Amino acid sequence: MLIRRTLLGAGAAAPMLAACSSVPALQLAQSPMLELPPDPHSYAKPAEARVTHVSLDLTADFTRKSLLGTATLTIAAAPGASEIVLDVDNLTIRSVRAPDGAELHYAVGARDATKGSPLAIALPLGVRRIVVAYETSPQAGALQWLDPAQTASNKPFMFSQGESILTRSWIPTQDSPGIRQTYDARIVAPEGLRAVMSSEMLSPNGTRAAGGRAYRFRMRHPIPPYLIAVAVGDLEFRSVGPRTGVWAEPSVVQAAAYEFADMERMMEVAEALYGPYRWGRYDVLVLPPSFPYGGMENPRLTFATPTVLAGDRSLVSLIAHELAHSWSGNLVTNAVWADFWLNEGFTSYIESRIVEALYGADRANMARVLDWAGIQTALRTTQPDAQRLHLRASPDPENYNSAVAYDKGALFLRTVETAVGRDTLDAYLRSYFTRFAFKPMTSEKFLEDFRRHVVKGDAALEASLQLDRWVYEPGLPSNAAAPHAAGFDRVTQAVNAFNAGGPASAAPWSSWGTLERQRFLQTLPRRMPRARLDELERTLRLNETGNSEVLFDWFTIAVENRYDPSTPAIETFLTRQGRRKFVLPIYRNLMAQGAWGQAIARRIYARARASYHPVTAESVDRIVTPA
Ligand code: BES
Ligand code: ZN
Repeated sequence: MLIRRTLLGAGAAAPMLAACSSVPALQLAQSPMLELPPDPHSYAKPAEARVTHVSLDLTADFTRKSLLGTATLTIAAAPGASEIVLDVDNLTIRSVRAPDGAELHYAVGARDATKGSPLAIALPLGVRRIVVAYETSPQAGALQWLDPAQTASNKPFMFSQGESILTRSWIPTQDSPGIRQTYDARIVAPEGLRAVMSSEMLSPNGTRAAGGRAYRFRMRHPIPPYLIAVAVGDLEFRSVGPRTGVWAEPSVVQAAAYEFADMERMMEVAEALYGPYRWGRYDVLVLPPSFPYGGMENPRLTFATPTVLAGDRSLVSLIAHELAHSWSGNLVTNAVWADFWLNEGFTSYIESRIVEALYGADRANMARVLDWAGIQTALRTTQPDAQRLHLRASPDPENYNSAVAYDKGALFLRTVETAVGRDTLDAYLRSYFTRFAFKPMTSEKFLEDFRRHVVKGDAALEASLQLDRWVYEPGLPSNAAAPHAAGFDRVTQAVNAFNAGGPASAAPWSSWGTLERQRFLQTLPRRMPRARLDELERTLRLNETGNSEVLFDWFTIAVENRYDPSTPAIETFLTRQGRRKFVLPIYRNLMAQGAWGQAIARRIYARARASYHPVTAESVDRIVTPA
């Protein structure tokens, strides 16, 4: 067969070869065919042909900053289907072949800045496996290639971050959260480095291979492509419990094992609430500080930022959160990104239940109060369209990440819990995760299921829950109840005393944990005279705090007050870590401070940009615009 490389028109609406409009809907043998809602962030046409398994054979080439090799895709196709459409972004496709080596027609369509390009491949009769030979671009949106200077061990490091729609920049597949795929992989890493993935690790020590050592992996559960993840670096493992452990660079692994000592107990709590953990092991990989998120729930291997290594285990709710995704998100998955709250809101609710079971109701309530305040801010500062749990289409799903999906979502389940009783909600969620395990979910389907199993036509209950208002309307419904945390009463007193002119030293800072300190800083007046800021800084040594969350809250105050003595510390913070949750708001606040802040933001960003992961840099590019 001849290769044809034509450029399809934008959107690649026209099928490349014979028209498939009359193709009957695909019947998959492996699972009852769930109808998928259209995904505006993918070019795939899953009703005609879909990827069911991805087999990777890739070499990590640090000189070229590229993963290169092959992806062999197993395909389920409707009778009569004549092509399969994949998502790709910035990949160089070398060839597409049938298993017998015959070349297949393919075409890469025009590139959309957010979605990338469609890759349409002809499927001759009977061909259900295709081998795509390709390499990734040094600019691949999911991948970061770190220089030795950017790591703790002074060795090269690379990692992927797939959510939401970045996997297509390193794997040519159907990159839609509703299209689940099993995978296996062989990854060749340079000698001295090791590869890890979000899967079973079949060759712990690797085997000798051309160009380094080969590591083998296998994920037997079908997962959405955003959960396929890889990292290559100087990594060491430390066991924490029977099913749990940490991977990190050698100089970090000890601190990580200490910080995450409670992982096994977290698993036990979650299992008691929501049913067995289905993924085997639960390990955490601590990445270099440019990792763009706090954590990423890659199955069997959460990826985490080192900024949670506070030294006192005070930020481990992040691990509770990523672990909770093993049920909400990884078992039952939002079918489209507009229903991101089904992943994050459910997970934030479960996170809070794990924290409550392990560390007590007061600590859980303190976190809930901080989240409530975050919701209020989000509602004050966003357009109504961004305040719905079920979002209406937006061009870039990376922007769906907000207090609405997380905290309004969790508050919704908390409100339901209060209305129907904890036991009823727990039993329902347990059955929900069992019945929809390894399946996609939508807001509509969830509400229908909840009504069938819990509301059961009870008109009074239906009216009191306001389900549709929660999911489809902006703002907060009238049944939303503000949480209360007794532990914050002393904080309120301290803030009041400080506001009345009292000294900063009167606040019992050293007896407080992270949440009380955050509450104190978050409830101080937004504007304070320079002398008061000096006093806070001198007394509490805020510029030097090692806790990233507390530091972030202090920098928020410092920037809003144009408090110069914090600028060097802000510069250090912005150049030494790249977590979007911290980095984006600080740049945004600086840019809102007129010439003073804009000059600082531009100067720091000029230095910091090269060290950020592409998903962070691309967002900051839109905030820190040239003068
Ligand atoms: N799945 C998210 C991270 C994510 C969201 C990546 C959207 C890409 C797009 C992860 O579970 C998460 O929510 N991380 C939070 C921490 C959590 C404790 C709220 C983070 O990164 O800060
Ligand atoms: Zn999450």
